[in-house]
Amino acid sequence: MGNRTVLEETAQHMVAPGKGILAADESSGTIKKRFDGIGLESTEANRRAYRHLLFTTPEIESFISGVILYDETLRQKALDVAETPFSVLLANKGILPGIKVDTGAKPLAGFPGELITEGLDGLRKRLAEYRELGARFAKWRAVITIGQRIPSAACIDTNAHALARYAALCQEADIVPIVEPEVLMDGAHDIDVCDTVTENTLKRVFFALHEHRVYLEGIVLKPSMVLSGSTCPVEAGVEEVAKRTINNFLRNVPAAVPGIAFLSGGQSSERATAHLNAMNALFPHLPWQVSFSYGRALQEAPLAAWRGDPAHTTSAQKAFHHRALCNGAARNGKYTEAMERAA
Ligand code: 13P
Repeated sequence: MGNRTVLEETAQHMVAPGKGILAADESSGTIKKRFDGIGLESTEANRRAYRHLLFTTPEIESFISGVILYDETLRQKALDVAETPFSVLLANKGILPGIKVDTGAKPLAGFPGELITEGLDGLRKRLAEYRELGARFAKWRAVITIGQRIPSAACIDTNAHALARYAALCQEADIVPIVEPEVLMDGAHDIDVCDTVTENTLKRVFFALHEHRVYLEGIVLKPSMVLSGSTCPVEAGVEEVAKRTINNFLRNVPAAVPGIAFLSGGQSSERATAHLNAMNALFPHLPWQVSFSYGRALQEAPLAAWRGDPAHTTSAQKAFHHRALCNGAARNGKYTEAMERAA
């Protein structure tokens, strides 16, 4: 176990009121997919230009407490004359740099359609280097798939076990682990199924964290919301999603956890904001901070505005600022549709 005070302070900074986390840790494969969507080649220079655009957006530190980076980005420098490392540029704005440390979800042998996240071997050494490079928190994403007779108990348990081993290693290095068990929204299942799978997953994850002596005051949970499957014929409304999600978490997430920072998981940007807002508006007195750690829901708008053209940098930064501002308002239940129209 590392320094508990350091872990607590970092975790609290990550979930500071009115702010949330930008997930900009797309692996090489994922960022290529995003760039394909705007017809841009995924070169080192383009990835650097895009991350520079996001991180230098004026006033973004009012709404963003931390940024999750990918290995390449943590080693990259901004495009200023001084070539300031991105980690330093962010830290200078009071934004904590974080790092994705898992090496991806791979097929789980013997369990068709299910995944296990890899990356534990050698992790202690990598974490020490990442700490040197300025990372103050880390991320590991476990993936739980809903389908015919899945998820299996074995899939949930192996992923929970890996998350717990990762979290313990992070804390040993004074790095706050983002514990991310994502229940995928892909599929035609209804919200009841998602509710049950999310509950089973959270129970097993917190049991594993306990067994591995993880200090709950020094983690941030990054879960998916309780939602209808993306191709379910009936889509649950915003208020139902908010109530189901919070009631589920009240049963399953200990009050010692400082914050829950949701992923967006393929929801539209506005829907992800509306869900976060409803949770905070309907439940103003929760034991944990209810925040965001969005990737797509923060980046879709700026990516579409930018399209790799330097002439569009300002409009892309405005689009990013707007989404961050809306999600910052949703942290207090103060987001309105009028804010979208005003933009
Ligand atoms: P999305 O918000 O796009 O789901 O990404 C968040 C993330 O970091 C997934 O690991």
